Amino acid sequence: MSETVDNIRKTEALSEPLTIGVEAYLSEEYARAERDKLWAKVWQQVGRVEELPKIGDYLTYEILDDSLIVVRTAPDTIRAYYNVCSHRGRRLVDTPPGARDARGRGRQFVCGFHGWRYNLEGQNTHVSEREDWPCGLTGQNTHLKEVKVGTWGGWIWINMDPECEPLREYLEPAATLLDPFQLENMRYRWRRWLVFDCNWKVALEAFMETYHVPYTHPEFMKFGAFLGWARAQGRHSNIGYDAPKGMGRTRQSCGSAAVPTPACRRPSCRTSPGRTRTPTPPRHLSKPRGGWSRNCRKGLPPTRCSGTGWTRPGMTTPRAA
Ligand code: FES
Ligand SMILES: [Fe+2]
Repeated sequence: MSETVDNIRKTEALSEPLTIGVEAYLSEEYARAERDKLWAKVWQQVGRVEELPKIGDYLTYEILDDSLIVVRTAPDTIRAYYNVCSHRGRRLVDTPPGARDARGRGRQFVCGFHGWRYNLEGQNTHVSEREDWPCGLTGQNTHLKEVKVGTWGGWIWINMDPECEPLREYLEPAATLLDPFQLENMRYRWRRWLVFDCNWKVALEAFMETYHVPYTHPEFMKFGAFLGWARAQGRHSNIGYDAPKGMGRTRQSCGSAAVPTPACRRPSCRTSPGRTRTPTPPRHLSKPRGGWSRNCRKGLPPTRCSGTGWTRPGMTTPRAA
């Protein structure tokens, strides 16, 4: 049995049923408490490492009332600061109208209000008419306020709590479960931002179970009836399907669809890193009438290709080929 499957089986016993009050979804006070007790303390994904390839590349991240600048300051270092000038608190980097966030490259951040400047390390490098500030300004109180940054799986994470636990600790056991998939070696081919007209938990809860699939996504049923499951993993959880009949043999020889297995030499194997040939759909999938659905253009089983369309660099899709 693989280590991953072994890990998945080490799950918690089912907890007692819990009824969540409606205030969790509707109350402003509850949302404010989430801001202070949850979002201010939890690790959050803000982007991919490859989105900041060069020194000076930055992006901004907005979460409720806070705005952050995430910037590469060295080949192996990414830092994050509150997007707030230390003088009068003006936002340092503005989001262009209609854009979701700001992205760019530079060697300094210049405040648009009174022109104070900051280098990539967050140090203040220029105060206009500094001689008129005879006292009070120090390197410390003019420094941009820093936020914790971590990376795992190719994602950049931030945490606004200076006392937070290390990212890896927070992610366990999810990180160990997912490490074999080498997500840091994958690149997204497309991404779509959506604003859901609901409380964030309503949206999230729909991705924590497969129970709804036959009724909400009946089109998936043409691929077969797979037993879906959901398991608690500490503060995290995972969902999946039991592998369809015959898929186990494919997995044994080639690894799962998302795990690179350089040793595999089968011409039809889609799992070798860097391959550019058109991926061959697994045997249990035949091309559906009307072509592959958006989530299945890569010929991956539905459970693997929903979401952001992850592929390894160089991999082509049936549509692109
Ligand atoms: S608020 Fe930034 S320089 Fe004054
Ligand atoms: Fe769904």
